[in-house]
Amino acid sequence: MATLTVNRLRSVPSELTVPGDKSISHRAAMFAGLADGVTVIDGFLPSEDCLCTVNAMRALGARVEPLHDQPGVGLVKMAVTGTAGRLQAPAEAIDCGNSGTTMRLLSGILAGQPFTTTLFGDASLSKRPMKRIADPLSLMGARVTGQGDKICAPITIEGGNLKAIEYTLPVASAQVKSAVLLAGLFAPGTTTVIEPVATRNHTERIMSHFGIAWQRAGDRVSVTGGQIPKAADILVPGDISSAAFWLVAVASIPGARLALRNVGLNPTRTGILDVLRRMGARLTLQDVVEHGEPRGTVIIEGGALQGTTIGGAEIPNVIDELPVLAVAGALAQGVTRIQDAAELRVKETDRIAAVAANLRLMGAEVREFDDGMEITGGAALHGAVIPTFHDHRIAMAFAVAGLHAEGATTIEGAECARTSYPNFEAHLAQFQ
Ligand code: S3P
Repeated sequence: MATLTVNRLRSVPSELTVPGDKSISHRAAMFAGLADGVTVIDGFLPSEDCLCTVNAMRALGARVEPLHDQPGVGLVKMAVTGTAGRLQAPAEAIDCGNSGTTMRLLSGILAGQPFTTTLFGDASLSKRPMKRIADPLSLMGARVTGQGDKICAPITIEGGNLKAIEYTLPVASAQVKSAVLLAGLFAPGTTTVIEPVATRNHTERIMSHFGIAWQRAGDRVSVTGGQIPKAADILVPGDISSAAFWLVAVASIPGARLALRNVGLNPTRTGILDVLRRMGARLTLQDVVEHGEPRGTVIIEGGALQGTTIGGAEIPNVIDELPVLAVAGALAQGVTRIQDAAELRVKETDRIAAVAANLRLMGAEVREFDDGMEITGGAALHGAVIPTFHDHRIAMAFAVAGLHAEGATTIEGAECARTSYPNFEAHLAQFQ
């Protein structure tokens, strides 16, 4: 198990370019694999999670030709020859690694296929609830079986003969919304997902990109079955969830300035910018391109941070940034409260328990609730040995905490950062 030693921040680079967006990379690989024709994907995130999706699409009949390897990052450009909606049965069970997005979205696609597939994952993924996708996909006519009451992986999907449904999401989850919409592409009639709280809309945007008609009316998203995506080259922007680590690293340092280039700025993902502004950082956007998935340069100038409350409809927009925002709370004066975020308990690890325990190890005062936590900021942090529970965002959030701690911080099992950020350590080194 690789450990990473983090020392107090010594410098701030003037600019960084984070790797591709994880959510969009998964969807690009899936839609390119389903499409009719050849799609060139550029800016792809070759993290372990997204490579699981590429391998899965290969196993289902898509052809993937590598075009460019970025040193230190990996395969960022590829040409995918799609299956024109006629997937082949895979020769063996499909490995989804640590990736909930791979397992849940792929289940939607597989629900529509006239064959049976088994999906499995690592120890962490095998504990995560798949019932949330099994329920709607079963209503559509697929048979989804798994382990125990939560229908955990390995799961088996017997697909085919779907019918359209109207489904209200019981939890705010873009993965569940996407699984139902993907299955809807294979169901005659119109499938509608009702989302009481808005979640990231990358699936909807990528459907438009691949020529699929869909409608939004209020909180209802609908798609009509029988449409085959048309191949269309795609440029993936950088991941704001990866930029989040450096935004927080810099936010609490008055006078510090960092430009993050080519960051995805989809409004369903930019909640972290609002939260950090509320806390006292200055954030400006430059060179914003609105076409497709919006992107641009995010410039942060640090300041003295104050605590804030993060909750309600804002939560899905910052769900993956909450571990590092909790670290920002520890660096702020006053109380930061995170509420309505019980979903954090079913991520790659229980992120409420992990964040609270690790912040306490570093000297912060934290109260834990079922749906969040309250951090009383301002106490000086000190280095500690930090367990990561194989959760990439816990590893990276606490590497950022280590930049603001007295003495060395040791991140155990730091290689899990490669789940979403292959060159995280190289970027971290620029702050040391
Ligand atoms: C994702 C949706 C979110 C997020 C995950 C990626 C997606 O999960 O936490 O990292 O790409 O749709 P949920 O759908 O479980 O909220």
